[in-house]
Amino acid sequence: MAPLQDIATRARQLREEIERHNYLYYALDAPEIPDVEFDQLFRELERLEAEYPQLATLDSPSRRVGAAPLAEFSQVAHRVPMLSLSNAFADGEVAAFDRRVREGLGVGTVEYAVEPKFDGLAISLVYQNGTLVQGATRGDGYTGEDVTGNLRTIKAIPLRLHSTHPPRLLEIRGEVLILKKDFDKLNRQQREKGEKEFVNPRNAAAGSLRQLDPRITASRPLTFFAYGLGSTDGLAPPATHSAVMDYLETLRVPVSRERKVVLELAGLLEYYAAIGARRDSLPYDIDGVVYKVNDLAWQGRLGFVSRAPRFAVAHKFPAQEAMTELLGIDVQVGRTGTLTPVARLKPVFVGGVTVTNATLHNQDEIDRKDVRIGDTVIVRRAGDVIPEVVRVLPERRQPGAKAYSLLDAVEHVCPVCGSHVIRLPDEAAARCSGGLFCPAQRKQSLLHFASRRAMDIEGMGDRLVDQLVDKNLVNTPADLYALGMNALVSLDRMAEKSAANALAAIETSKKTTLARFIYALGIRNVGEATAKDLAHHFEKLDALMVADAEELQQVPDVGPIVAQSISQFFAEPHNAGVIKQLREAGVRWEEGERAPMQSAISGKTFVLTGTLPSLTRDEAKEKIELRGGKVSGSVSQKTDYVIAGAEAGSKLAKAQGLGVTILGEAGLMELLEGEA
Ligand code: IVH
Repeated sequence: MAPLQDIATRARQLREEIERHNYLYYALDAPEIPDVEFDQLFRELERLEAEYPQLATLDSPSRRVGAAPLAEFSQVAHRVPMLSLSNAFADGEVAAFDRRVREGLGVGTVEYAVEPKFDGLAISLVYQNGTLVQGATRGDGYTGEDVTGNLRTIKAIPLRLHSTHPPRLLEIRGEVLILKKDFDKLNRQQREKGEKEFVNPRNAAAGSLRQLDPRITASRPLTFFAYGLGSTDGLAPPATHSAVMDYLETLRVPVSRERKVVLELAGLLEYYAAIGARRDSLPYDIDGVVYKVNDLAWQGRLGFVSRAPRFAVAHKFPAQEAMTELLGIDVQVGRTGTLTPVARLKPVFVGGVTVTNATLHNQDEIDRKDVRIGDTVIVRRAGDVIPEVVRVLPERRQPGAKAYSLLDAVEHVCPVCGSHVIRLPDEAAARCSGGLFCPAQRKQSLLHFASRRAMDIEGMGDRLVDQLVDKNLVNTPADLYALGMNALVSLDRMAEKSAANALAAIETSKKTTLARFIYALGIRNVGEATAKDLAHHFEKLDALMVADAEELQQVPDVGPIVAQSISQFFAEPHNAGVIKQLREAGVRWEEGERAPMQSAISGKTFVLTGTLPSLTRDEAKEKIELRGGKVSGSVSQKTDYVIAGAEAGSKLAKAQGLGVTILGEAGLMELLEGEA
């Protein structure tokens, strides 16, 4: 048997290794070893500690869970108060902050450390000689609750700092939160278990941290990011906030990758805009950004006003959620006849705009959220996503509010054309059975037909299509090509000049590609990618039109359902008629469109991120696909190249983590030109 000394050394090594892998996995999202190998290390440590209890330490990763449930939390007085930040909403308020800072310091230029404002819960972690001894909530800023046992279960929080000479005392402050992807998974699990879903990641994190039984906290996907220090003892004080953050990173304490140092007001506002643009693609929710005077001596000189520092400010984003009243539910009919319930709302300012409508998705969603007319609801508008009703506040419901049934509301007929509405058993959506007889479906199919990635008829938007259909000038896409000057100038707000432009755009669209044409037809379940695959496989439209299910399924990604949609579409005489008319009107493409060239990049997968200096995303995509490459939306082990432009974000970071080749536009062009 090995001497105890060797076993102690092995146990120490295992702890180090396990904590390092925890850091790689939970803080950097870049694991180096598969889970099974990690489990082996973990089990080896558990075995050693079970056999030699004298080797077990408080900061062993095997001891993350295990504290006994509490009857209540005890109180912790913070050594240094945990203050809050003052808020700025408008650029002018940020300018005023910067001016006060400069005047307070009597300097002309200030360097700022800038970072996201995490939307989680503030906590304090006390490390004595490198070991985590206490964790507490913020509470009222002076006294918080001792949640050490719960915080120990969070794997992103080191139980031991990675340092040979840790300070005697180091209090780290930061935010506990749940990543968006983990939140979605958590709510999926809650749904499956028939338990109540959490409202948002912040609430879920708060609820999880305030559990008296650490085993419950351990089962929740909490994580942590540090943003500063509290009290310290024995730390050679760094000169700047950014140096503090770099130091924390060396201790393997998670810090935000988005942190930066900028100069002056212009630097602050630029950062705000850049992070704002990427807000939705960040892995966690943020509600703004925080600006801090970088020089710590300067911070000291500026000091505090009442409960907030003068040296820092939170620049908030417009709230993405707001409360309002559901005045009614309208029903809209989409291109394929889907009936979509749309909430009519009392106007409310959310996500930076006034919102009056929000989608309710379908009947299942209405049932799940139990939405009733007259309810007080929470509306969410994130980025450019269509606003949606996320939940109702049942406690504010008026007595007598009735459950809503879409089919009853429309009396089982399409509100636009009066055709029967059907709801297939395996579908969430109710559908108008009127097909192209239904003006709503006609309008939507025309808009799709004319859209940029389909026939690309410039200027053919809602207003024009509405009039063309309502005045019975256009029934099918083929009718667009029969439009003349007289018909167009008869429309509202259509002067001769714009009519001529519209006619020119229609004329230009006649020359197209087979892939665009197939996509433009609006066959159910045939998106842009499938349309391209079909064009490459069949080369000629006539071949596609007569293909049977078996042949169709030889095309990549075409399964029985898609094959059936295609066959049904072409079997419909009306559709065949429209196609014939379109061809007679002069819509054409090069038949026998070749499959993409064989080249060194054939079959390679590319991901585009950020803004390239001269190519648009569509142009870059087209160039890659022309040479047989594929463009995907997300980075994975299978990605061959990431093409990164300005403001590239998490995809770039992920690619770096995975060691994927990263090129700029020039690199891409070189790669492609080698192939031309
Ligand atoms: S610094 C003395 N930095 O915002 C200043 N706070 O309103 C201490 N927060 O309670 C705060 N992200 O929970 C700071 N990058 C960040 C932050 C941040 C989120 C929270 C924190 C604090 C609240 C202040």
